[in-house]
Amino acid sequence: MPASLPKRYLVTAALPYANGPLHIGHLAGAYLPADIYVRYLRLMGRDVVFVCGSDEHGAAITVKARKEGVTPREIVDTYHASLRDTFQKIGISFNIYHRTSEPLHHQTSQDFFRRLNENGEFIEETTEQYFDEVAQQFLADRYISGTCPVCANPDAYGDQCEKCGTSLNPTDLINPRSMLSGTTPVKRPTKHWFLRLDKHENWLREWINTGKVDGVALHNPNDWKNHVVGQCNSWLDQGLQPRAMTRDLDWGVDVPQEIPDSAGKKLYVWLDAPIGYISATRQWAADNGKDWEKYWKDPETALIHFIGKDNIVFHCLIFPAILHAHGEYILPRNVPANQFMNLEGRKLSTSKNWAVWVHEFVDTFKGQEDALRYNMAKNMPEQKDSEFTWKGFQESTNTELVNNLANFVNRVMVLTHKYYNGLIPEPDPEQAFLSGWQPDTQGQYNEELGILHKRLVEMGREIERFNFREALRMLMEISGAGNALLQFNEPWKAFKDNPAQVRVVLNLAMQFVAAIGVASRPFLPFTAARIRHMLHLPPLEDNGELLHLLNELAEGNPTLPPHHAINEAEYLFTRIPDEVIQQQIDKLQSSDQQNQPGSNEPAVNQPAVYKALAETITFDDFAKLDIRTGTIVEAEKMEKSKKLLRLKVDLGFEQRTILSGIAEHFSPEDVLGRQVIVLANLAPRVMMGVESAGMILMAEDAAGKLSFVAPSEGWPNGYGVK
Ligand code: 2FM
Ligand code: ZN
Repeated sequence: MPASLPKRYLVTAALPYANGPLHIGHLAGAYLPADIYVRYLRLMGRDVVFVCGSDEHGAAITVKARKEGVTPREIVDTYHASLRDTFQKIGISFNIYHRTSEPLHHQTSQDFFRRLNENGEFIEETTEQYFDEVAQQFLADRYISGTCPVCANPDAYGDQCEKCGTSLNPTDLINPRSMLSGTTPVKRPTKHWFLRLDKHENWLREWINTGKVDGVALHNPNDWKNHVVGQCNSWLDQGLQPRAMTRDLDWGVDVPQEIPDSAGKKLYVWLDAPIGYISATRQWAADNGKDWEKYWKDPETALIHFIGKDNIVFHCLIFPAILHAHGEYILPRNVPANQFMNLEGRKLSTSKNWAVWVHEFVDTFKGQEDALRYNMAKNMPEQKDSEFTWKGFQESTNTELVNNLANFVNRVMVLTHKYYNGLIPEPDPEQAFLSGWQPDTQGQYNEELGILHKRLVEMGREIERFNFREALRMLMEISGAGNALLQFNEPWKAFKDNPAQVRVVLNLAMQFVAAIGVASRPFLPFTAARIRHMLHLPPLEDNGELLHLLNELAEGNPTLPPHHAINEAEYLFTRIPDEVIQQQIDKLQSSDQQNQPGSNEPAVNQPAVYKALAETITFDDFAKLDIRTGTIVEAEKMEKSKKLLRLKVDLGFEQRTILSGIAEHFSPEDVLGRQVIVLANLAPRVMMGVESAGMILMAEDAAGKLSFVAPSEGWPNGYGVK
């Protein structure tokens, strides 16, 4: 492994599917950490290219298009534009945001496929695959679901069980059903190209665990996160199997047509998507007169993939196998995958609309983009899942950004204007004052600059180790020390009697502000720009300004020279009031309600999932059920039960108590007075000490949402339903 710094960096962030907007979980998982890292590298004068783009193929897109009754092209065009704009508004500084529907990408992916084919990396095999006779389509990946053979989750997908994480083939599923028509698929023969992952298992194991390939050290395995290595090993321990790299689909990258039997075949989306990083780099290089190959083929390049934990296997095993199999490409130096960020105690969910959408945030909180970035970085799920709460967001903004950072900068600016007409005062380096870093200790001008230097170096070290939370804490220590410097020395009191001390204190505080104006840029780019403007310094251009600052501080040189004239003070952050936070909490709850079982709104982004039909019954079986119309005349929550409502139902000839497990979906007020259909001859059952006599019939959709089933309005109670 090269001991010196990499010559250049190619940093990627997972290509988001262009089938929906961006939420905070995506941001905290891949884009923000990547952006912090890249912005830091640029400030250190490193050669770095940051690529991303929309992932526009695969079932994620076609299922969505089918559901909305539009073409895949319409879906990707809409969401590509929306994602690109949202990234830009929240300050994610890609060098290029490309898309996989671009011809350059199709060509790059096809070239890869050809090369792997020539290298004998595929086995071509005709196997029996599930086919939907109604939709006339083979069913791979997310087009098919069924029961997981490992954990019995009834809703496992054809490529993976999201409950237990097992990687599956459609033929592994028990009770398979088509996501397109809901029918039970049949098997039909079809030919595909399988990548011999089994052939790559040994070197991948060595590479993941030692960082070496053929005895050559490519990275230090201790630099990789434990959970990443752990997940890779658990895959490797199960043994890698050949994996199909083609699909029978009509949307995606064509298998090169000169390859026999390629008609109607497309590349597997997880083959083409990561190649999207290469296509994006090629486009960036073409636009900027650079050589893309250096970034992908020179071992002195550090290739770093930022992803969420659900993408680990693809970036740490499958894509490296593909790069290696090609023969000319480097392998990733690190894959600092993050875990997940939850929201208000629950898993973020696009389908349940349980999310904070970044495009909505930037519209509502204009000018406060950095407050979100700050909160995300502070709570980044680096080693374990973390959580976003609106109250936590308010707290981190009001206490840390407003009270600590903005307050410090503002006080220094205001005092400098007040005492020195906005000119940086000339300090006497021998002048005594109290240190901002160490309470009750005498400070010394150069020593204090030395500590500042040390903190900045440590902050950088943490960023380079992908410890962004810790790095942010160190940045905030600078403004904390700045506040303490003012607090301990009280320049507003000392100005009259000890002007020499005030000069040194305010000069030093200004050096802290200037340092924050550079070093905060990876985390808070909009704030850094505002500070630079206030200080009347040119905008940062990302060409080594932090390195320059560190070099100056190492020499004991302050960056803001005496007599430099600053601009007016501006407020960097504003306090977020309780009402604003409450509005967001209410919005979240109500949008979630809309998707709750029982509402009339369909769940958003919910692919059609139908349960397989139950066993056939005879008419006599059916005739045993006595189903009646009724009206709910009383409703209350059952004490100590989250799920049960205690209902009194009028059946015309009598009123009965029925306990219904709908309390998580409906409140008593929601159901009072509703007409219902009741299974009236169900044997009574005692639950939590109360006897329930019958069952209210409800419709249930794929997401578990419930809807009442009722006769027409005004229908009398107690009559039969057949
Ligand atoms: O999981 C996802 O959202 C995928 N679209 C990520 C692709 S990353 C890369 F390989 F392109
Ligand atoms: Zn499972």
